[in-house]
Amino acid sequence: MHATQFQPTRIAVFGEALVDQFSSGPVVGGAPFNVARHLAAFGMQPLTLSAVGIDAAAATVRAEFVRYGMRESGLQTLAHIQTGIVDVATDAAGGHVFSIRDDCAYDQIGMAALEVVQRELVPQGWLYFGTLALRAAASHQTWQALVTTHQGPTYFDLNWRANQVDRQIVLAALGASTVLKVNEEELAMLLSWDDVQHTSAPSTWQTGQTDTVIAEFIARFPKLERLIVTCGADGYASFDRHGRCDARGGVARAIQLVDTVGAGDAFSSVVLAGLLQDWPWTKILERANDFAAAICEVRGAVPASLDKYDSWTKSWK
Ligand SMILES: Nc1ncnc2c1ncn2[C@@H]1O[C@H](COP(=O)(O)OP(=O)(O)OP(=O)(O)O)[C@@H](O)[C@H]1O
Ligand SMILES: [Mg+2]
Repeated sequence: MHATQFQPTRIAVFGEALVDQFSSGPVVGGAPFNVARHLAAFGMQPLTLSAVGIDAAAATVRAEFVRYGMRESGLQTLAHIQTGIVDVATDAAGGHVFSIRDDCAYDQIGMAALEVVQRELVPQGWLYFGTLALRAAASHQTWQALVTTHQGPTYFDLNWRANQVDRQIVLAALGASTVLKVNEEELAMLLSWDDVQHTSAPSTWQTGQTDTVIAEFIARFPKLERLIVTCGADGYASFDRHGRCDARGGVARAIQLVDTVGAGDAFSSVVLAGLLQDWPWTKILERANDFAAAICEVRGAVPASLDKYDSWTKSWK
């Protein structure tokens, strides 16, 4: 154990750390763990609240904790249950087909997470979560207890995966969120959940203007202070709690696209790092957009070499 492991931190990340099983070999992922790894590289010392089994995939995940020099105090080890695995097949067109396995360790993140949070997360610290780890009762209960007792702000990145989580769970997570990050498709899906069909299109969003559909949506969730919508190659938009667009940016720059895996996670990690360091809001979004673009230039959600981070973050100092 490192001496720094029990130092208080201002950011905890709850959810899946898993392995994408490609035919070429395992690649560590899980949106929360992507975010946590970036935050570690940014020097934010995140507390990762997750669980693995005792198997080869767990060793692969743990190796990432070591590579990034991350605290492992929030990582639970569960015997008799497999570490999270997503099986990746290749379809006829050469695309990837992802099958998320049921009954994984991250479905069973236990209440021990509460004690670790009490010990290591400052009361006004940030708590990040997504939806996938909320699909099973055990982790859901732990998340519920965490958000009920947590006094600080929360960051919810929807990261919707079909057929994993019920609407009710998403609505509860929205009710517990301070900042919500969705992509365009996820926003359209959330807006379509009402009886009335709403539309809100990125092409109509302009800084300084209020989007009434978004304003109504945000008003349904009293804790929600901000909505961030990422729009792939079309950048991002941010809305305050009154549905006013307070920032809209296009593509950061021309990139050499490798893949967009983890682009949204990269975006979220910089938003959190910026909030923790009190950067101006527009600066946070510009840097998030730029870093997410950089992640589109490497294979996978995180770089193969941590040296990359220096070049990406040097302009932040
Ligand atoms: N082709 C691209 N060129 C430049 N930047 C991009 C491109 N695609 C994505 N990005 C950057 O990544 C951010 C997030 O992309 P996107 O809206 O696809 O998120 P997402 O769907 O949540 O991603 P994820 O697959 O990680 O969940 C964008 O706001 C932008 O900053
Ligand atoms: Mg996403």
